[in-house]
Amino acid sequence: MFDRLPEYPWEQLKPYAAKAALHPGGAVDLSVGSPVDPTPSIIQDALNAASNAPGYPSTGGSPEFKAAVVEWFARRRGVAGLKPEQVMPTIGSKELISWLPLLMGLGPGDAVVQPRNAYTAYVVGAALCGAEIISEDDPAKWPSNTKLVWVNSPGNPDGRVMDVPELRAAVERARELGALLASDECYAELGWGRWAQELIPSVLDPRVCGESHEGVLAVYSLSKQSNLAGYRAAFAVGEAGLIKALVNLRMHSGLNTPGPIQKVMAVALADEDHVAVEREIYRERRDVLLAAVKDYGFELSESEAGLYLWATLGQDCWKTVDEMAQLGIVVVPGIFYGDAGKNYVRFSITATDEKVAEAAKRLREAARVKRD
Ligand SMILES: Cc1ncc(COP(=O)(O)O)c(C=O)c1O
Repeated sequence: MFDRLPEYPWEQLKPYAAKAALHPGGAVDLSVGSPVDPTPSIIQDALNAASNAPGYPSTGGSPEFKAAVVEWFARRRGVAGLKPEQVMPTIGSKELISWLPLLMGLGPGDAVVQPRNAYTAYVVGAALCGAEIISEDDPAKWPSNTKLVWVNSPGNPDGRVMDVPELRAAVERARELGALLASDECYAELGWGRWAQELIPSVLDPRVCGESHEGVLAVYSLSKQSNLAGYRAAFAVGEAGLIKALVNLRMHSGLNTPGPIQKVMAVALADEDHVAVEREIYRERRDVLLAAVKDYGFELSESEAGLYLWATLGQDCWKTVDEMAQLGIVVVPGIFYGDAGKNYVRFSITATDEKVAEAAKRLREAARVKRD
């Protein structure tokens, strides 16, 4: 009983966090991707205004919330013409990701595919229902018993962005297998370099999935772009029949998003300004950290969008985690995200300007000492 999942991996980081805390300047924690900037006041005001909520909220989502998602997809994601019945709210994305295989009725004998470098909740979902997890980016290698495929663009931990042809190949293969293609897209408004100019494609984009949304599901969260991680504000959009089935299961099992949070999401999605402000804050932090990480000798991989730098010193990740802890910096070992990451670490840019500057200073000083 209760042993389907191992101990939460972050426990293994605690000794390194303790070591980092011994640094005379204190620890700089760049491990967790939890936003640190204030929730924008427009959103706080919306929550205050929505605080009278005596009745149960709609599991499928209020009309106002669903209209806001439809409008946002058309305005920001290049996906026009969605219907409200294609949308449902979730209690943050992580719960949907973790429970989706079970809600789909998957179990032993079924395969769930995830990226080679994968956010940790996909494997949890497979484990909770006893399905097999396959870490494979190449659609040609997805096995015939695949029932659910997770793609994650922009990716956590590696910041990898899938372009239209790549996403389209994934959709085509999933359809061929009769599998659901779920696309986790929560960093789509946080692109850098090429992806600051170009639209980061959604799986719902007609260039990706054609005119039909059959067999595809886009999963989105406002935790990052709107500093709403504490509110648990997210949603999923897909083919109407799939959404109807999921809402039914979620209604039975009490997975309904609080009404005030649905109201808040409608306000947050309608306001581009606070997202632009936050994007600029992260862009500056990323520039500062990226330069110092490179100066120290790290090689960067992908890291084209999102809130992380995926970096290697060409050695085992735990050795690098320890090296960073000696500088008082806490980073995540890439092995947490699968074997492919065993020589990588993940730096998060979700720390205050001061903390990011301090980390950069320590990396540069250490690089200078190494050189001398
Ligand atoms: C790729 C990815 N998906 C989903 C989530 C979960 O977001 P939330 O549960 O806050 O909506 C995260 C959070 O870090 C993430 O990185």
